[in-house]
Amino acid sequence: MNQSAEYCDVGGMVAPPPCTMVIFGGSGDLTRRKLLPSLYNMAREGFLNEKFAVIGTGSTPLSDDDFRTRLREGVEEMYPGAIDKAVLDRLAASLYYVRGRFTKSEEFPALKKRLEEVGERHGTEGNVLYYLAIPPQSFGDVADNLGKVGLVHDPLQPGPWTRLIIEKPFGDDLESAQELNRRLAAVFHERQIHRIDHYLGKETVQNILLFRFTNGIFEPVWNRRYVDHVQITVAEKLGVEGRGAFYDHAGSLRDVMQNHMFQLLCLVAMEPPNKLEAEAVRSEKVKVLDAIHPMSPAEIDRFTVRGQYGPGTVDGKAVPGYRQEPSVSPTSNIDTFSAVRLEVENWRWAGVPFYLRTGKRLPVRDTEIVVQFRQAPLMLLDGMAARQPPNRLTIHVQPDERITLRFHAKCPGPPVRLAPVQMEFKYSELDGKTRGTGYETLLYDCMMGDRMLFHRADMVESAWRIATPILKQWESQQPKDFPNYPAGTWGPPAAEELIQRDGHRWFGPDDHT
Ligand code: BG6
Repeated sequence: MNQSAEYCDVGGMVAPPPCTMVIFGGSGDLTRRKLLPSLYNMAREGFLNEKFAVIGTGSTPLSDDDFRTRLREGVEEMYPGAIDKAVLDRLAASLYYVRGRFTKSEEFPALKKRLEEVGERHGTEGNVLYYLAIPPQSFGDVADNLGKVGLVHDPLQPGPWTRLIIEKPFGDDLESAQELNRRLAAVFHERQIHRIDHYLGKETVQNILLFRFTNGIFEPVWNRRYVDHVQITVAEKLGVEGRGAFYDHAGSLRDVMQNHMFQLLCLVAMEPPNKLEAEAVRSEKVKVLDAIHPMSPAEIDRFTVRGQYGPGTVDGKAVPGYRQEPSVSPTSNIDTFSAVRLEVENWRWAGVPFYLRTGKRLPVRDTEIVVQFRQAPLMLLDGMAARQPPNRLTIHVQPDERITLRFHAKCPGPPVRLAPVQMEFKYSELDGKTRGTGYETLLYDCMMGDRMLFHRADMVESAWRIATPILKQWESQQPKDFPNYPAGTWGPPAAEELIQRDGHRWFGPDDHT
């Protein structure tokens, strides 16, 4: 598909206000692999104020120089051989490290002192962004302590700003999420809290909203009259990658379905917001989640599937089963695959099934959303319905970033023959700033005070309201057939049955070539 040279620029990017970013969990993997390289990217693209500094904290003893080395390593891994040294050196010079776990208030005076010194040296004007990249059981304690020691500025009073970014998992069921929301609300105003979901930082995910609501041609057919069903797949080739201890308590439904996938579902199903603004967009998303009723036990038996991978082959290489992964119980019954059939019960979508599936150790890495339209009302050619599948629009989120629309065309020549053909838009053809980790946009938005891409308290609770009954039922009825899919396959046979019962089948990368 040809791309027009006319770009629609909506305002230029401006550097965000000065600030100090304090990363709790600064010695961890997320900081080295994602956060620090993202800050480098932002600095290189001019999306970071020159008056900026980072204080990393963590239980690992590190000097400022060690922390700076982590930045260099992270950036080098991400952009081998293509680094702007001047930018990297400047950023490195604004990194500092304070040792501590910060779950006890006695640890905070040292941090407070360093924050004042660093803020003064870099002219960050008292603005502070706290990033909690720590185990979820410490979220509440760190937040409480920040409040107790006076490190949170009331946003209703004039003066500098304090903001909080909090990594997932945000609770592990409805009750724990509500409790965490209560603890955070005791210290921070909701407008200061940014519950991060890295999927919302992905360009192709952000594009869903704009694709739907800036192109007038899709909206009239985006409903139960024209859409037959929607499929959302988040397939991962990787296993648990050294995160066995965490994953064995989480599982795929908690780890990916309840957050990333429900967000994709919201973007596909939401009503047009009145404007492109945080509260308008987030309120529409919450309405989608609230239109999905929590399933009854009988519905859970019928409309959900769980799986766990056994040993198998991925990319021609033998890989162990989940129960053989490090730090995983050899009798674990946690799900590494989950599939659900949901309905969004509102005027737009009543009766349209939404099928969601996610899993680890599947044959490919592929995140995609398929909107399958209804069959044309009248078949002009005998037997056409059987041979020609209906139109479908596919949003390929990753790794292959594109949008495809499939329809039928007449093959040249006297006998009337139809062929399925495809129109395609490739994201790589669009001009723009260098792609990064996805965290750049989220960090930038937080510094700018824009909360559109972050979860709101009620949104998290609405998502848990749907997921919690499923998790409870799964926990109370231990599976008898685990492991039930070999690594390198598309999950348990029951996942195929879930969709075949409605006369459909799952689409995958081979269907869109
Ligand atoms: C994370 C999950 O939130 O998302 C991981 O904890 C998962 O288990 C990851 O692998 C997937 O993200 P991405 O960006 O690789 O699709």
